[in-house]
Amino acid sequence: MSSFRLVILISGRGSNMRAIVERFGSATEEHAGTHVAAVISDKAEAEGISFAESQGIETRVVQRSKGKEGRLRFTEDLIKAVDSYSPDLLVLAGFMQVLQPEFIRHFERRIINIHPSLLPAFKGLHVHQRAIDSGAKFSGCTVHYVNEEVDSGEILGQAVVPIHHGDSAETLASRILKQEHKLFPRVIHEIARGNISWKKLSDGTYALSQSSALFLSEDRALISCVSEARANE
Ligand code: GRF
Repeated sequence: MSSFRLVILISGRGSNMRAIVERFGSATEEHAGTHVAAVISDKAEAEGISFAESQGIETRVVQRSKGKEGRLRFTEDLIKAVDSYSPDLLVLAGFMQVLQPEFIRHFERRIINIHPSLLPAFKGLHVHQRAIDSGAKFSGCTVHYVNEEVDSGEILGQAVVPIHHGDSAETLASRILKQEHKLFPRVIHEIARGNISWKKLSDGTYALSQSSALFLSEDRALISCVSEARANE
């Protein structure tokens, strides 16, 4: 099996990163298949960094300093750090910096993100409280490709959970987080296997090729994602 290298960017707790490491492992050998080559954080104190280290994964901290200069330097440093691990896929897992267009263009069609709402609803921050306040009966999470607009790239998979009467932002966040930990590794697996891929069209633009299936997870969350007969999982 040829190797498929993941680099994960985090800013804090890193529970999604952990779910990905637990699914794919941290092997760095060429024959090892899909694996996490490195975890990079913009915060030295990010909890996830110690977990990654404990798993023998290479880690880096790339910090941003203030102002325009700081932003430019950060983008350059981050491109260099990520490139040094030659990722096939760059995974944003709770990475709290807005990435600059130069960065996104450099890794175009190779960056995915997880967002804790059913996009295109509730882009941005404070999503759980906004979902509750809207009166919506369902929320969930979305894995999507990253483009130059925040939380707007092509949707690759979603998991849906109910919003219960009396939910707080915390109770809803924790119900959704459980599904994030299932959805994210699943989508990564499908990309690594080539079941989600970009095709170059004759006019030079790219189109995403994917087919989606709808199924219930073992705890009865509704999931839509590329899938091969996983209805009874
Ligand atoms: C998750 O809810 C993710 O959807 C959002 O940030 C949170 C990160 O949590 N983008 P963790 O660091 O993975 O635990």
